[in-house]
Amino acid sequence: MNLHVTVTKLQAYKRDKRKIAALTAYDCPMAALLDEQGIDMVLVGDSLAQTVLGYKDTIQVTMEDMIHHTKAVSRGIQNALVIGDMPFMSYQASPTDAIKNAGRFLQEGGAHGVKIEGGKDRIRTIAAVLDAGIPVLGHLGLTPQSLYQMGGYKVQGKTSDKAQKILEDALALEQAGVFAVVLELVPYAIAKVISGQLTIPTIGIGSGPYCDGQILVVNDILGMTSGKPKKHSKQYANLKPILDKAVQEYILDVQKGQFPSLDNAFEIDEEELKEFIDSIKKES
Ligand code: KIV
Repeated sequence: MNLHVTVTKLQAYKRDKRKIAALTAYDCPMAALLDEQGIDMVLVGDSLAQTVLGYKDTIQVTMEDMIHHTKAVSRGIQNALVIGDMPFMSYQASPTDAIKNAGRFLQEGGAHGVKIEGGKDRIRTIAAVLDAGIPVLGHLGLTPQSLYQMGGYKVQGKTSDKAQKILEDALALEQAGVFAVVLELVPYAIAKVISGQLTIPTIGIGSGPYCDGQILVVNDILGMTSGKPKKHSKQYANLKPILDKAVQEYILDVQKGQFPSLDNAFEIDEEELKEFIDSIKKES
């Protein structure tokens, strides 16, 4: 088998100063598309909540939801590293829960590793998962599963003390053995310092250009999310109006009897048709 992107390859990319490109995916066709285009890492993010499941935040996403979508994503991937995002309450209660649930991402979901939010406060849990042989991607800065504690989606590390805490957390995660750390909504100057201090890659989202890699939500870059584009993201295509137009045209075509035409339909042998019509006539 051709060796796909591995956690050690991503670490070598940092040493070689090659930036890591990552995106989220939630289903097989999108995962296959990203993989074919050469994405390094695909995260089955718990942003599944808002992008696909219609929840307002990530709190309600369950292990069953995540495993279902991780399986679909894994089926579409040949090359990229697939990371499953451990959902709220799948690792917070105990390290035993964390090992069991992280294992499910690999065993049932076909992922190559898991992402866990948190720093020093989560080290015991992260160490236990790593000890079970499961690669872990850390996640610091804005950690959406602590949304209610943080009081909203806000930039993190904006004071010297808070920036210091993020740096200490990042160093603790590196020491514990995570293969990379997501830095979400951290001021770019702080992300730059942290990236310089770590030997493992930092993967930024809303944390500026000095991280070793970037991750975005795929729906955001394709213009498939409602509301105004987010400052931290970039819309590379605007698919929503294109999809709206296609669906609108289909509805009108059906209503006007313009779809389907006979070109979209199937024929029956003349003899069979005659026999069928005759049999109906005889019955009536
Ligand atoms: O769930 C998610 O989309 C994330 C981001 C870091 C991309 O965790």
